Amino acid sequence: MIPKAELHCHLEGSIPPDLAHALAARNGLDLPDKLFDAEGHYIWRDFLSFLDAYDRVCGVLRTARDFGDILYSYLQRTAAEGAIYVEMFCSPERPKSLGIPYADWLGALVDAIDRARRDFGIEARIIGICIRHLGPDRALALARQIVAEPHPYVVALGMGGDEAKFTPADFAPAYRLAHENGLGCTIHAGEVVGPESVWAAIRDLPVTRIGHGVRSIEDSALVEELARRGIALEVCPGSNVALGLYPNRAAHPLPRLIAGGVRVTLGSDDPPFFHTTLGTEYDQAGLGELVLRAITRTAIEASFADDATKAKLLKGVPS
Ligand code: ADE
Ligand code: ZN
Repeated sequence: MIPKAELHCHLEGSIPPDLAHALAARNGLDLPDKLFDAEGHYIWRDFLSFLDAYDRVCGVLRTARDFGDILYSYLQRTAAEGAIYVEMFCSPERPKSLGIPYADWLGALVDAIDRARRDFGIEARIIGICIRHLGPDRALALARQIVAEPHPYVVALGMGGDEAKFTPADFAPAYRLAHENGLGCTIHAGEVVGPESVWAAIRDLPVTRIGHGVRSIEDSALVEELARRGIALEVCPGSNVALGLYPNRAAHPLPRLIAGGVRVTLGSDDPPFFHTTLGTEYDQAGLGELVLRAITRTAIEASFADDATKAKLLKGVPS
């Protein structure tokens, strides 16, 4: 099996329907209406209704243990597909809205990572992610929280949510704070909105990676700039096809980004929503084994893990 590393997966977006059912039952909750189709898959139509379905799945969560169990089960499934490293987007906004103290939520995630390392040999880190449509003030509060209670497993600040809302510059104070305190920085851009959103992100924020960024392909000067600056893209082809950015995997710009010299990695984004897994992304990328191994090495190098962890992981991926 090709060793794999993933830099783009959302914790709550990784909840498979059967786990959503189990968590709802454990918490004595009914699952929301119209969340599943006849085959038991999540229902959504477009980007905004996907974000809405995502929020409704989060409605089954109640305790810090729920978040830890989601992470542990994801690491178990992904290690079985050959993953050696996962950097997970985890939003402190969700536990906060449930009244779970940050330290309890983080403690459950840290425990899940330690157990998964022991049980499956996989390494993992956490990216604290803010939610763009909740606005810059909430993002800054979240960055302050992460900085105030640092943990070696919380390695970066990220941002998902509705890309059409606000501008990257609006979030500069949050990102500056994270960067000044030694955290890595990444942001979703160039997914729903075009290349201008990637230009704005790399101009106005101290990011070394872009979540998706695939629409950079529409602007050759931007492709050159990404290659020149060594900015890594967290590419999630299955997500992009599911959300209708491209009609199928053959039309996806991944090979053109690689040909343009851009550093790329592969991720599953919200795997059960998009009927994918990290293993599927590697299998269906249309790339040979040597290129896939190079992608894993790029992911480790572009990760926000400490240098000793990166060196150890890289030993497991001979080129
Ligand atoms: N939150 C979860 N998945 C996302 C995506 N693909 N884009 C933006 N925000 C998200
Ligand atoms: Zn994402």
